[in-house]
Amino acid sequence: MLTGELVRLRALEPSDAEALYRWNEDPEVGRWMINEYPLSLAQVTEHCAQRRHNTYGDLSLCVETLAERRAIGLVSLTGAEPESGRADLDVYLGEAEFRGGGYGTDAVRVLCRYGFDAMRLHGISLWVVAENTAAYHVYRKLGFVEEGRKRESFRRDGRWHDEILMSVLEGELVEPS
Ligand SMILES: CC(C)(COP(=O)(O)OP(=O)(O)OC[C@H]1O[C@@H](n2cnc3c(N)ncnc32)[C@H](O)[C@@H]1OP(=O)(O)O)[C@@H](O)C(=O)NCCC(=O)NCCS
Repeated sequence: MLTGELVRLRALEPSDAEALYRWNEDPEVGRWMINEYPLSLAQVTEHCAQRRHNTYGDLSLCVETLAERRAIGLVSLTGAEPESGRADLDVYLGEAEFRGGGYGTDAVRVLCRYGFDAMRLHGISLWVVAENTAAYHVYRKLGFVEEGRKRESFRRDGRWHDEILMSVLEGELVEPS
C-alpha cells in the first residue's frame, strides 16, 4: 500500500539520523519551508531513537527509492482528526540529485492514497509558499486546488511571501495515466 512507481514509504529508522541531519542543513530544502532552530547531529540522532510509533494523528515516513532502496526524503501527515477527516501534508526530498525526477510526485501520491484508503480521510491540506513553483506544480498535477491565501506570512531572503492553502479531497487524487 505504501509503494508507488518510483518510491516506497517506510517508517524512520535510527540509522536515518545522519541523512536527516544533512537534509536539515541543505539550504534548498529549507528555502521554502519553515525551519526549526538548528539541531545538532546528536539531537537528531536522539530524536530518531526516541521517536514514538506512527499514529493516525502523527505519521512521518521516509521516502526510499524502489530501485536502490536509498533514503531520499521525508513525507508526513499530521493533525488528522476523525471529526473533520482532514490532515496536513508535508514533503521534501533531501537528496538533491533526485529532485525533478518524479520522486516527489510519486511520494505525495502514495501518501495521499494511504490517507484516503487506509486512514479514511476525506481531505488532505497543505501550505505552499507562492514562489515555490515546482512544489505548487506537483500539487496541482496531483489534483490539489487552492483554498485560500495567507498574505505576506512567510519571510525569506529579506522579503515577505504569500502562502497558499491547497487541498485534495477523497476521489480527486489524480492517478498516473
Ligand atoms: C517539492 C518537491 C518535493 C517536488 O519533488 P520532485 O521530485 O522534485 O518533483 P517532481 O520531479 O515529481 O515534479 C516536479 C514538477 O515540477 C516542474 N517544475 C520544476 N521546476 C519548476 C519550476 N521552477 N516552476 C514550475 N514547475 C517546475 C517539473 O517540470 C515537474 O513537472 P512535470 O512532471 O509536469 O514535468 C522537491 O522539489 C523538494 O523537496 N523541494 C524542496 C523542499 C520543498 O520545497 N518542499 C515542499 C514544501 S511545500
